[in-house]
Amino acid sequence: MNLVHTISEVRSQVKEWKKQGLTVGFVPTMGYLHEGHQSLIERAAKENDRVVVSVFVNPMQFGPTEDLASYPRDIERDCGICEKAGANLVFNPEPSEMYAPDFCTFADMTGLTDVLCGKSRPVHFRGVCTVVSKLFNIVAPDRAYFGEKDAQQLAVIRRMVRDLNFDIEIVGCPIIREDDGLAKSSRNTYLSEQERKAALILSRSLELGKTALQNGERDAEKIRQIICDSINTEPLSRIDYVEVSDLFTLERQDTIKSDVLVAIAVYIGKTRLIDNFTFNI
Ligand code: PAF
Repeated sequence: MNLVHTISEVRSQVKEWKKQGLTVGFVPTMGYLHEGHQSLIERAAKENDRVVVSVFVNPMQFGPTEDLASYPRDIERDCGICEKAGANLVFNPEPSEMYAPDFCTFADMTGLTDVLCGKSRPVHFRGVCTVVSKLFNIVAPDRAYFGEKDAQQLAVIRRMVRDLNFDIEIVGCPIIREDDGLAKSSRNTYLSEQERKAALILSRSLELGKTALQNGERDAEKIRQIICDSINTEPLSRIDYVEVSDLFTLERQDTIKSDVLVAIAVYIGKTRLIDNFTFNI
């Protein structure tokens, strides 16, 4: 497996593979990889002849008060995980390789990005769409793999690929959880021992919402209330949002008539965690 830092190195390697008729899978990440990322890389390795992983903490998708500076980084460890999971190339650019000092072209979206995480993170999706577009143009993969934990991000990327005609298949992969139910996230490393225990309130509260749906509840407000009441029993938690949304448009639902995304964002101490499940009618 090769570790490269420049766009031209990625391009010449991928061109070489394409000349040989090989397919390329791509897993974009911000590094500090965990079993969730590992599952994406393994799936990409199963479905493609070659796999590229990008490790880039993208400054553009962090707001001014967010955790860009403290975001965990460990490229050596990441490379070990990539190699074991079947990656062939890791692209780890410096911010200056990705953004010229006078960079001024963006990929942005309306609607889908105004709700859920977009409400409390107003610059986030413009940064995600811009960097993912750039990475797609650099790597030119056949398929790209994204986790369903970032359900809104997955919906946004699918829409962007459709709207801007990227010739890339987007593959969504299931959430990977710890044994006790906590969704794997690079940000879990911020949690103290006490906060780690408190963080279980996310998956437990979602389970209550899911059970109510399975038992036939179709009033979205009742589902939201069940989840909020449960989260509020945890003193270290602070709700950012609890939403029941249409799975494709992400519009807020009142009565559940079609497939829905039940998504939450909750602060545990200072750490903002997200989790979700989808429910098919
Ligand atoms: O999901 C992430 O880690 C990031 O948002 C992504 C897709 C790598 C873009 O920076």
